[in-house]
Amino acid sequence: MGMSVFKPVSIMAVALAIMTGGAAADDVKKGKKLFKSKCGICHSIVKGKRKLGPSLFSVVGKKAGTEPKYRYSSAMKKSNLTWNESSLDEYLANPRKKVPGTKMSFPGLKKESKRKAVIAYLKTLK
Ligand code: HEC
Repeated sequence: MGMSVFKPVSIMAVALAIMTGGAAADDVKKGKKLFKSKCGICHSIVKGKRKLGPSLFSVVGKKAGTEPKYRYSSAMKKSNLTWNESSLDEYLANPRKKVPGTKMSFPGLKKESKRKAVIAYLKTLK
């Protein structure tokens, strides 16, 4: 008897979980494509592998400018940033504004939804 009261709530909770889980998975998929077209030319996702830019393996949670053997700009080395959702969002929106003097020649991803998708993908690189 009592259960019937809770049923609609649990159905909604399940639906919500499916919806948000699906949205997150879509973001990762979209982010992977964006990464390939916008970032992959300069960044590898293989640990320690340098291209023009440093490897972005496990970049989320990492201190900026600390990839061993990569020659960062002094601006990046001194930035004192830790890469998390908000710092990545600001950097990817406008790299030279967030880190003046960065040598990343990338104009930025102007669309928030695209930055969100790329960051969702970066989080999976562990
Ligand atoms: C034209 C080449 C180029 C492109 C395109 C590019 N980057 Fe970079 N990226 C660099 C370089 C070079 C650096 C090193 C910057 C410095 O030392 O100032 C860098 C640094 C970074 C860092 C800091 C890494 C660290 O170890 O602190 C992140 C994060 C980053 N890029 C993410 C991205 C993402 C995500 C994209 C695509 C949306 C992208 N970059 C596109 C060249 C590029």
